[in-house]
Amino acid sequence: MFLNFRRMRKCKWLQLMTTCLVLSVVMVCWEQMENSVFSHVKSYSYRYLVNGFTYINKSLTIPREQARTFSNFDYLLDHPDKCVNKDVLLLLFVKTSPENIERRNAIRSTWGNETYIQKSLGVTVRVMFVLGAIQTKKEEPLWSKRRGQKKLVQEDSLHGDLVQQDFLDSFHNLTLKLILQFHWKHHHCAHARFLMTADDDIFVHMPNLVSYLQDVSSRGVTDFWIGRVHRGAPPIRNKDSKYYVSYEMYQWLSYPDYTAGAGYVVSRDVADKVYHATLTLNASLYIDDVFMGICANAVGVSPQEHVYFSGENKAPYHPCIFDRMMTSHGHVEDIYDLWKAATHPRVKQRTSGLTGRLYCAAVKMALLCNPYHFTTYPCKAAFL
Ligand SMILES: *[C@@H]1O[C@H](CO)[C@@H](O)[C@H](O)[C@H]1NC(C)=O
Ligand SMILES: *[C@@H]1O[C@H](CO)[C@@H](O)[C@H](O)[C@H]1NC(C)=O
Ligand SMILES: *[C@@H]1O[C@H](CO)[C@@H](O)[C@H](O)[C@H]1NC(C)=O
Ligand SMILES: *[C@@H]1O[C@H](CO)[C@@H](O)[C@H](O)[C@H]1NC(C)=O
Repeated sequence: MFLNFRRMRKCKWLQLMTTCLVLSVVMVCWEQMENSVFSHVKSYSYRYLVNGFTYINKSLTIPREQARTFSNFDYLLDHPDKCVNKDVLLLLFVKTSPENIERRNAIRSTWGNETYIQKSLGVTVRVMFVLGAIQTKKEEPLWSKRRGQKKLVQEDSLHGDLVQQDFLDSFHNLTLKLILQFHWKHHHCAHARFLMTADDDIFVHMPNLVSYLQDVSSRGVTDFWIGRVHRGAPPIRNKDSKYYVSYEMYQWLSYPDYTAGAGYVVSRDVADKVYHATLTLNASLYIDDVFMGICANAVGVSPQEHVYFSGENKAPYHPCIFDRMMTSHGHVEDIYDLWKAATHPRVKQRTSGLTGRLYCAAVKMALLCNPYHFTTYPCKAAFL
């Protein structure tokens, strides 16, 4: 009897321990879920409930003199005449950092070659690299910064395409870089029909993009803002994240819709409206694409999805994809090969005609709708 009782106690004890263990596991997991699934669900429902975000403009509006502190940096390198007397279809800003000269050179000799674009596509595109001032670590001597800047000046005298403002070039100053682009366009290239902003590790299929923008322009489209759209994204409250945003900076559950900063395009009228929004908004929020969403929201512009604009990740390498792609993200060394392959005349041959189209429909379904093989374009891109 006594033995039995002890056994029962032991059983209960074990049960209790197991329950505790399960509970703590659930709690740990819950915290993870809280940070991803849960906040996305909360944020997404919030986005649909509030739907206007008009209070954001209200609460982030600051006096003009204070807003000016986000834009009144001196220009260290500049080319204010780049657009003068030119019918510019697209003003394309590449966000770059002082040390990324290899990336800039790769872009200059592939998709960003203005001479090539003018000759073979018959339009004027201006490609400018935007950057801030060189950051030096504490232990580095001042001359290393001076030497770095001298190199930039040399590079710029060779290519004439760097626009540099005197704020520290850092991740947390990306919004200043965004403001620089819209202000520069307003002052020096207001007539350019489109503005694009892109990372320096992106691949742009320039022939596809140009013919698409020519079509959009000929239809006189306004309020045009296109890219990979993030809808109802929640602010990240985890302090360890690169994208951490405090409640003081942004207090709501969801951001207004915005396009991935990897690459997006706006029409002239949108660029102008966004410029005006930056004159009165508090630009402390350092995630540049989110800030763009806030500016656009303030002036009543919302983004549209284009399935062949990339978010993260690369596009699959295939002529059927090359035939449709606009941008693909995460290219550095392979940019030369990709440019050659994607613009090869064989691409058009293989993908045109009835057989080409049928073949490509099958290939794209296999490449984009395979759940085990994540690529940057959504499955629905296979059917468009
Ligand atoms: C944003 O808010 C400010 C002040 O609340 C207001 O004056 C301004 O017109 C608003 N902007 C837009 C585009 O609604
Ligand atoms: C750009 O293209 C032109 C004409 O196709 C070519 O002559 C020039 O070398 C190219 N520039 C670079 C940097 O590759
Ligand atoms: C942004 O640039 C300003 C001006 O150079 C500098 O004072 C500030 O420290 C920079 N911020 C970050 C986070 O790098
Ligand atoms: C802008 O917002 C930051 C918080 O993100 C705040 O500390 C700062 O005081 C604001 N600036 C103005 C001028 O209100």
